[in-house]
Amino acid sequence: MARLHLLALIAAGLPSALTLPSNIPVKIAVEGNQKRQYTTPEDRAQAVVDTFKLSWEGYYKYAFPNDELKPVTNGFSNSSLTDVRNKWGASAVDALSTALVMGEKEIVNQIISYIPSIDFSQTSTSVSLFETTIRYLGAMISGYDFLKGPLASLADNKADVDALLTQSINLANNLSYAFDTASGVPWNNLIFSNRSNDGSDNGLATVGTLILEWVRLADLSGNSTYATLVEKAESYLLNPSPASSEPFPGLLGMNISPLTGEFQDAVGGWIGGADSYYEYLIKMYIYDPSRYATYRDAWITAAESTIQYLTSHPTSRPDLTFVAAFDGTTLRLRSQHLACFDGGNFILAGQTLGAQQYTAYGLALVDGCHETYARTATRIGPEQFRWDPSSVPDNQTSFYNASGFYITDPSYSLRPEVMESYYYAYRATSDTKYRDWAWEAFVAVNATTRVGSGYSSIKDVNVVGGGGFTDFQESFWFAEVLKYSYLIQTGEDEEWQVGGGGRDGWVFNTEAHPVKVFGGSEKRGIV
Ligand SMILES: *[C@@H]1O[C@H](CO)[C@@H](O)[C@H](O)[C@H]1NC(C)=O
Ligand SMILES: *[C@@H]1O[C@H](CO)[C@@H](O)[C@H](O)[C@H]1NC(C)=O
Ligand SMILES: *[C@@H]1O[C@H](CO)[C@@H](O)[C@H](O)[C@H]1NC(C)=O
Ligand SMILES: *[C@@H]1O[C@H](CO)[C@@H](O)[C@H](O)[C@H]1NC(C)=O
Ligand SMILES: *[C@@H]1O[C@H](CO)[C@@H](O)[C@H](O)[C@H]1NC(C)=O
Ligand SMILES: *[C@@H]1O[C@H](CO)[C@@H](O)[C@H](O)[C@H]1NC(C)=O
Ligand SMILES: *[C@@H]1O[C@H](CO)[C@@H](O)[C@H](O)[C@H]1NC(C)=O
Repeated sequence: MARLHLLALIAAGLPSALTLPSNIPVKIAVEGNQKRQYTTPEDRAQAVVDTFKLSWEGYYKYAFPNDELKPVTNGFSNSSLTDVRNKWGASAVDALSTALVMGEKEIVNQIISYIPSIDFSQTSTSVSLFETTIRYLGAMISGYDFLKGPLASLADNKADVDALLTQSINLANNLSYAFDTASGVPWNNLIFSNRSNDGSDNGLATVGTLILEWVRLADLSGNSTYATLVEKAESYLLNPSPASSEPFPGLLGMNISPLTGEFQDAVGGWIGGADSYYEYLIKMYIYDPSRYATYRDAWITAAESTIQYLTSHPTSRPDLTFVAAFDGTTLRLRSQHLACFDGGNFILAGQTLGAQQYTAYGLALVDGCHETYARTATRIGPEQFRWDPSSVPDNQTSFYNASGFYITDPSYSLRPEVMESYYYAYRATSDTKYRDWAWEAFVAVNATTRVGSGYSSIKDVNVVGGGGFTDFQESFWFAEVLKYSYLIQTGEDEEWQVGGGGRDGWVFNTEAHPVKVFGGSEKRGIV
């Protein structure tokens, strides 16, 4: 299927480092016909569902209840120290909310009948407070919101639904000693066996991406301590110290000491390590505008600084808009696949606040990230890229001239952020261009990462075929890539879809688990 992209590259007349196999013309007709089968959103949505089921079956057969499938060797990731998903079945739990929105009843019940058996007090690996919160806690409270609400009919056993909340409480209670620090800023890397931690500083994203899940849990359980803990931690981000850690208003450094609550640097951007702090500021306002108006204000301050100070147009492609990273007030002309959620987040804020300038800026960022996909040999975007004209590698000068960026890490690990931003762009504009972009990205990812019993991360997006497999299927493939690929093509009126204006009824956590916004009938305040 990789040749399909060669065809597209040829059609677009794009310059590329790749050499073309001589048998191309023979294949074009056949694969061109295959591609034409998926012209309606319904057909495309069904293709995404088929992919979800194939990935699930591979995982369920060869890896469940371990964390991830190794699709090339039909193995599973093990409990080595680098594997920090804790052997609690990360892929199974992360797949739940996607199985729910797809209405895949059998898979839903395979997952929710497993969750009560997880022992969240036991693990031989270190536990990341952040990763555990966004994947396991986010997935379980999302599942609970769906199965107590609009998707109740998908659960075979009501006790399994109640267990989603009980296990969320169990997990949070096992994690909560992390917040027992001098400042209230938690440790991130926990060692459960002796209730210790690795002593390292925490980060902007890892501290600032707990608030939605823990506050929702407080509201669902009636135990307000969960909210108090994360609000205290977040207070150090909303009022950062020292002043030098905020080089532009609202834009912050990355490392924070749990001992003092002080920032340790002024390096940042909308990049990995910082990213979802900004993302959750506006999402908390959507979750509950009465409690989190100051979070909205912090988002606006950061967004205004981003537009004013970080907006960057590559010298070779001034038509493109990227957001630069920074070290103090010095800009670094670099970005990442991870950062490509930024377009979607600006669009979400623009729609929520009725502020067209944020939507327009977000759409420009979506265009830039689309270019990182459209220009590579696989039509998948790279993990890291730059546009600093003074350091273009010799063998990428023509690529940079044409594309407006050059590649500094060519891998792709089944990440969702570009698809995520297409989703928000489509929901805000109803412009089918974004549906088509999402479908093209899905076809490209399917063509290059499909292997063995599932899908694998690849080594080089700018080599036809992907340059080799790492033999690893990330859990967020289920949670995010396949959910956004599906939701953009289908179910326009479902209540969990993000809307075109006003306050949404659901808000997606950073792992794409939809959480019901605060409605006032929850148990908040009753402890
Ligand atoms: C666990 O995974 C690591 C990294 O992939 C590998 O080096 C090690 O051999 C594996 N151990 C077992 C027991 O499979
Ligand atoms: C940790 O979770 C397990 C179940 O997953 C539960 O039995 C245990 O009580 C929890 N620990 C705490 C401190 O709540
Ligand atoms: C509320 O949550 C905190 C933090 O995990 C826990 O220590 C406390 O026991 C919980 N309170 C109740 C009443 O369960
Ligand atoms: C806790 O256990 C870890 C891993 O076994 C060890 O490295 C660490 O020193 C222990 N910490 C304490 C405070 O006992
Ligand atoms: C460019 O050169 C670097 C360093 O020699 C090499 O690692 C990389 O694979 C080359 N890239 C291309 C597209 O040829
Ligand atoms: C890239 O563009 C610059 C400026 O237009 C030009 O001087 C240079 O020759 C071009 N390089 C390549 C490899 O196309
Ligand atoms: C996905 O990839 C498989 C295997 O290469 C192929 O058979 C299938 O047609 C592809 N699906 C789409 C929608 O491109």
